[in-house]
Amino acid sequence: MQLRVVADQPWDVHADVLAVPIVGEPAFDGALGELNRRTGGELAALAEFGEIRPKRFTSSLAASGEVPAKRILTISVGPADHLDRETVLHFGAASEHRLGGRHARSLAVWLTPLGDALDGGLPAVAELVARGVVEGTFEPKTLYRDPSDVATAPPVLDELILVAPGGDAAALRKAAERGVIIGEGANHARSLSNRSANDISPEVLAEEARSVARDHDLWIEVIEPDRARELGMGMFLAVGKGSDNPPRMIVMRSGGEGERDALDRHLAIVGKGVCFDSGGISIKPADRMEEMKMDKIGACTVIAAIGTVARLAPGTPLLAVAPAVENMPGSHSTRPGDVVKALNGKWVDITNTDAEGRLILGDAMTYAERLGATHIVDVATLTGAVSRAFGHLITGAFGTPQTWYDEVMSAADRAAERYWQIPLVDDYVPDMDSWYGDIQNSGSAEGSLIKSGLFLREFRTVPWAHLDIGGSGYFRKTTAWAPRGATGVTHATLVELALAGAKA
Ligand code: BES
Ligand code: MN
Ligand code: ZN
Repeated sequence: MQLRVVADQPWDVHADVLAVPIVGEPAFDGALGELNRRTGGELAALAEFGEIRPKRFTSSLAASGEVPAKRILTISVGPADHLDRETVLHFGAASEHRLGGRHARSLAVWLTPLGDALDGGLPAVAELVARGVVEGTFEPKTLYRDPSDVATAPPVLDELILVAPGGDAAALRKAAERGVIIGEGANHARSLSNRSANDISPEVLAEEARSVARDHDLWIEVIEPDRARELGMGMFLAVGKGSDNPPRMIVMRSGGEGERDALDRHLAIVGKGVCFDSGGISIKPADRMEEMKMDKIGACTVIAAIGTVARLAPGTPLLAVAPAVENMPGSHSTRPGDVVKALNGKWVDITNTDAEGRLILGDAMTYAERLGATHIVDVATLTGAVSRAFGHLITGAFGTPQTWYDEVMSAADRAAERYWQIPLVDDYVPDMDSWYGDIQNSGSAEGSLIKSGLFLREFRTVPWAHLDIGGSGYFRKTTAWAPRGATGVTHATLVELALAGAKA
């Protein structure tokens, strides 16, 4: 896809579709009035008719009259005082997603109506809109089938034209290019995440990681079971041992061993890679079990994110650790009540084999620290509870110390992603007491979301944040801006967090 930034007026731009953001109640004065006049009053007529409405992400495809763009796509973005980065991102994605099944090769997007909405002005808008359009091209229905057989697929664009009369084209272009790269990284994470368990085993995921490492000249190490046993990764092995597809601990690095970044950190991003979560012997009910092929989104996200960071700022110190396993029932499986020794030496009582994510992440975090990590963020489809509490639009987040959590959240703001903090309540730790070990992996159901964080906290010593994408990691229904399936959420946050430490 070619990217072009033009300083022309929207009514002078040639494209198959011109996307126009409608802010608040449509008011046909100023430039929007001029555009309306040149459509022969089509836009105002549609607003009058009730087809163009102020409600956020409602849209219309209008005839363009004398305007050279062949069609005008209006997307409403809601009231001006609620315009935030996420809305601008989703406006970009909705512009492309709305064209699903339509024949368009070039999409022009008029940025100016959003120009004052964000800190960072038009360049911030250009970056988020470009990223959004790229994310809007994603369609899991084309993952296995030929895109031409998928009637509803968003169009493959030859050209994205950002329209900003009077804007600084060079600055906007630079910002938009960054947005495109972040969007492509998110789509990479989504493609991997959506692939089914008969397609992606832990070894296939490792192969995908090797290909990212080759493309971007990253160091990679894939730890196989024999080596994991030597090292003492008892929790990781316990989860993987029930499957014929052996587990893989995938470790990738950009920059040197233990090298500190510009913020004096050796940041590690750690992602849960359960290629299929049947629950193991504590088997899950059949209802929606198929969704558990997406229990590897965290791993796919960190693998994609280190690739994105390498594209944007090669050599930035960053570690990505992705423990990949299949959690299956069988005669080799871990049984409820099995007691294992974690890599950090703690004895863990596996009371529920379905609480497997925290087991593999615990050993992965310890290993990251062995490799010199000074700060850790993990991403995981860890609990169903987080989705019951926050739904699919909010990622539940934990962290300690608070200063580190706040740093992660300022990256999240830049990334236009939404989180909500969950407290790590010490008083609940005794609920996870084990008869035999130091801790059990699953206590009583009360406060189970908090306990999942408390369990993970035991397996790191450095500043740490945990992002639970059990709700936000994939959509069951399409929205105006995204299809069903993996959302790519947290990819941009991790990228922003790592890039804050990029060396000049
Ligand atoms: N992968 C699941 C969590 C999940 C469920 C994510 C549904 C997205 C949608 C995780 O491994 C799990 O099974 N968690 C259990 C934990 C419990 C056994 C303590 C849960 O949430 O029920
Ligand atoms: Mn589970
Ligand atoms: Zn799981």
